[in-house]
Formats: sequence, C-alpha cells, structure tokens
Amino acid sequence: MSTLITNIGELVTNAGPAGQPGQFAAVTDAALVIEDGRVAWTGPAAQAPAADERADAGGRAVLPGFVDSHAHLVFAGERSAEFAARMAGRPYAAGGIRTTMAATRAASDRQLRANAAALAAEMLRQGTTTLECKSGYGLTVDDERRSVAAAATITPEVTFLGAHVVPPEFAADPAGYLDLVCGPMLAACAPYARWVDVFCEEGAFGAAEARAVLAAGQAAGLPGRVHANQLGPGPGVRLAVAAGAASADHCTFLADADVDALAAGTTVATLLPGVEFATRQPYPDARRLLAAGVTVAIASDCNPGSCFTSSMPFCIALAVREMGMTTQEAVWAATAGGAHALHRADVGHLGVGARADLVLLDAPSHVYLAYRPGVPLVAAVWQAGELAAGSVPVN
Ligand code: NIG
Ligand code: FE
Repeated sequence: MSTLITNIGELVTNAGPAGQPGQFAAVTDAALVIEDGRVAWTGPAAQAPAADERADAGGRAVLPGFVDSHAHLVFAGERSAEFAARMAGRPYAAGGIRTTMAATRAASDRQLRANAAALAAEMLRQGTTTLECKSGYGLTVDDERRSVAAAATITPEVTFLGAHVVPPEFAADPAGYLDLVCGPMLAACAPYARWVDVFCEEGAFGAAEARAVLAAGQAAGLPGRVHANQLGPGPGVRLAVAAGAASADHCTFLADADVDALAAGTTVATLLPGVEFATRQPYPDARRLLAAGVTVAIASDCNPGSCFTSSMPFCIALAVREMGMTTQEAVWAATAGGAHALHRADVGHLGVGARADLVLLDAPSHVYLAYRPGVPLVAAVWQAGELAAGSVPVN
C-alpha cells in the first residue's frame, strides 16, 4: 500500500545524504510518497510517481513530525496553585517535585498509565510523533519501577530519573538514597528504560552524585541525559559532556566554559523554552550556542511543575521570539535536533527511508508556527505512515 501526498506548498525534509538527517532543507511545490510506513520518494509535485492512494495537501506545508526529547508524563495530581503563586512573584524551586511525588505514589498503575496516555495523545494531535518520557515522581524502587513501566506503554524512549530529588524519607541520608538509585532502583528500572537522567542542581544532586548516577546507568547499558544549569550556573553541562551524555537539558545559565565544552563534545544542548515561560526565568540565548557550533534541540519538558505545556508549536514560537532562533533553526531543533538528542536517525527528517512521521499544517509554510502563535495549525499527523490525527482530502 503506497500513499502519495501531493500539492505540498512547502515540504520541510531536513534530508541529508544517503537517507540520513541533514541540515534544515525545504522544497516548494512538492510531493511525497509513503510506502510500508517509510518515506519512499520526495520531489517536485510535477514529477511524482503514481501510488495506490492520493492525498491533496492543498498547497499547505508538510514537516517531519516533532521529536519531543524531554517530557515527564508519568505523574498524578497537578500544581496550578504553585503556578499561580509563581505568577504572583514566588520563585520556582525544585521542592515542588515532592508534591507530585506524593500524588504519584498514591495513584494506581491504571491512573498513571491513563494520565500518560492522555498526554501522549494530546501531543500527537499537536504534531509530536516521537516523545521521550521520564520517571522521577515515584522515588521508591517500586514507584520508579511502575513509573518506567507506565512510560514504556507510550514510548520506547523511556528514561529512568530516580535521581530527580532526594525524597523526604531520605532527607537525613542523601548518600543512602544515591546508593538506592544506583543499585536496586536502577536494577528494577533498567529493563524498561533506554536512558538514565539526573537533576544536577542546587537542591537536587551535586556533581559527584550526578557522575555516579551516569556511571551506574552506563554500566547498566543506559546512556545518560542531564538536567543541567536550570536554576543557576553549575557543573551539570560540563559533566554531561565529559560523560558523553546524549543531551544536557535546560542550559538556562551557561558560562563560556559550558558553551566551549558543548561545542567540543557530542552532547546536544536541549532548550526548554516553555520552562522559562512558566517559571519567569531568563531565556537562554540560543544564538550563542548556534554561533559556537553546538547542536541545539527544543523540547517541551511537559511536567506538572515547571512547565505544563505539551505543545511543540508553542515551544517553537517561544524559541524564535525569546531565544533568538530563526524559524528554520527552531523547526530543525524541534525535529532533527530532538532526533539527535535521542540518537535516532529514522525520525526528525523526511529523507527517503525515514519513518513516515509527518505533520500537515493549516498554513503555507513552517514560518506560521511562530508567526501565528497559539493557533492550532496542525491539520493532520501521520505516524509510521498511518494517518494518526486530523484529516486530509483523499482522491
Ligand atoms: O525539568 N528540573 C527538574 N525537573 C523538572 C521539573 C519537575 C517539577 O517541578 O515537577 C524540569 O523542570
Ligand atoms: Fe525536565
């Protein structure tokens, strides 16, 4: 079964050589053929081959599905009162995580899975076709195990974040909690997880502790990701690069040495503009990273505390308006950038052979994602070649 999508006003492919993701790339008056869940052909609409089925994009834009490489979707409860207090002047603090921890521990597996599935469905409707999902609100061996198990029901990109904060019952023995995380908790969670993460920050885990978590994860076959430099300057970014972590996330407070380290290493800098929006923190300057040659991704960080948006279009608009990115850079960061952060070559681009994850916008170009912020522009979404949300005229 093959599907031709034709009459595409702008087709963003990000295609590099030999089916690999490349830099931002787009063609106008284009068409694309899907076969067996993969991109089989792209090119000028006038040269498109025949297919079993034909969809008409009506001159609108088609992009790779968004790759949201940082989200916390396994939790119970909500913290809207904390958000309201913040907007009234209270600062964000890592301690709010414990509020969600209590609600998460009290929730059944069924509730946790249903909440995560509802958020994943909300993301899909907004064009996210690949998502990463962390644990980190259970913070006991069993609550972390059931959190990663819940995450695994919505995505293969599951991250074990037992090192989110030290739970209250270990307040007097943080070293004991670290031993638990790196020992029995990791052992219980590793079978469900692909990644390990640590929140390296004042009030969470220090440099030596973060290195220990990354090393233990690595030994268990889980490459690292780091919540780094979110609330202030610190060692997180540099230790992430030194450990060869896939991604250093947040990067809100960067010293020149952090930028230099990112530029010299392989770690992606994942920016989370929704967090700065929802915590009233200063936005990091993406231009500084891009000028240094750093690979930049944009993700939502969807979570009940620091940022409860699931919308990659909103994050793109913020990155353009507040972080100094061009519209092309922001769309690339939200697609191919996220794929780099997850070490995925099959998503984030629409080169031949890529997974057919596509977003059809109700707009003629990708620019509209930032030009029309807050407007629901996603008209249809294909995931692995199947129409998964919205609709498109077929003839
Ligand atoms: O990425 N920084 C640590 N974790 C989340 C926030 C979690 C919360 O406040 O519940 C984040 O911002
Ligand atoms: Fe996060």
